[in-house]
Amino acid sequence: MQLDREDENILAGEYGETRQKMMEILVALGKVFGAEELVPITSAQISGASYKTIGEWGLEWLRNLDARVAVLSVLNPVGMPRDNWRDIGISKEFADKQLAVMDAYRKLGVKMECTCTPYYLYTNLTMQDHLAWSESSAVSYVNSVIGAKTNREGGPSALAAAIIGKTPKYGLHLFKNRMPQVTVEVEDSDALHAGHFGAIGYLAGKEVGNRIPYFTNIRASRDQLKALGAAMAATGAVALYHVKGITPEARLPTFAPEPSEKIVIEASEIESLFKEKEIDAVAVGCPHCSAEELLKISELLAGRKVKKPLYIFSSKGVKDANAGIVSKIQKTGAKVIEDTCIVVSPAMDKFDTIMVDSGKAFAYVPNMCGAEARLGSLEECIEEAVR
Ligand code: F3S
Repeated sequence: MQLDREDENILAGEYGETRQKMMEILVALGKVFGAEELVPITSAQISGASYKTIGEWGLEWLRNLDARVAVLSVLNPVGMPRDNWRDIGISKEFADKQLAVMDAYRKLGVKMECTCTPYYLYTNLTMQDHLAWSESSAVSYVNSVIGAKTNREGGPSALAAAIIGKTPKYGLHLFKNRMPQVTVEVEDSDALHAGHFGAIGYLAGKEVGNRIPYFTNIRASRDQLKALGAAMAATGAVALYHVKGITPEARLPTFAPEPSEKIVIEASEIESLFKEKEIDAVAVGCPHCSAEELLKISELLAGRKVKKPLYIFSSKGVKDANAGIVSKIQKTGAKVIEDTCIVVSPAMDKFDTIMVDSGKAFAYVPNMCGAEARLGSLEECIEEAVR
């Protein structure tokens, strides 16, 4: 792989041991995947930030790093909200460790935005941007809905790219690797409602695996595309998808023709995921809620009181910018929680059956929270919480 003089010097250790190690990670990755060079990135989004997932070893590794990030860098959700962690039953022991992890990232210059939807906060991303993001749903969204370019990084490789300011140029950084590989058609697509997109993603991800799907007959808002992509990244390994007439690359004159292999998602398969089940908590906001989703939730809850625990996850940035709406929601007894999420926080582990409006959470809750999951639309989730 071609490195410029400065990169060679970093690799030789002239800029300190941490930068040297980070460059070694990038060079090793580049060699494995056949990258010819490094490409400058405009931002990094780093997973491996919840103490629940990285544990003591991860914390020690972070504490020993001595460098600063070179580009705008944010974190994936951590294991608890940074301030009101007692409100959701987090122990002091866990909180101390989680705060230490955040402190280690802060010392590296990482912004304390802990979210899987940083694209709601940094809205100037374009098709020209190369990124090093690691949360699968965020990777899927920026690649597909915005047309920016990132591979799905692991936590260490995203942090290495953040510190060096570059990433190996292979995979989805190359336009030729971004063409659709399988066509997906959804039966009865005119009858779809918002709650169906997570379910379609859940089903499509299983069929598509790690290929690039091309949806030919759906209309979807940005939040619906977010739900679709997040679920496909969870049940498959889809890091990029295209939607005919909607996503930016599918509208380019140079876009490839429809792949001949076609998968049909049947209406009955979608409906079969929405099974009635007794539940003891409701959780929405996977991926983290947008301002529009918070507004919708406040409208659904207006004049009502929550009877079952209702957890709504969003980023601190979106929550702070919508403080009036959040306050209305909280007055109903629901909790709007920043920085963390259904899956990476130990707060959800105490429930046996959790209702979610997300295909991704539906896939992850059984293993990550040790609970059964029930899928519903956002409206159904709110109804269940106030019933
Ligand atoms: Fe985000 Fe957590 Fe879901 S990271 S996509 S809210 S599992």
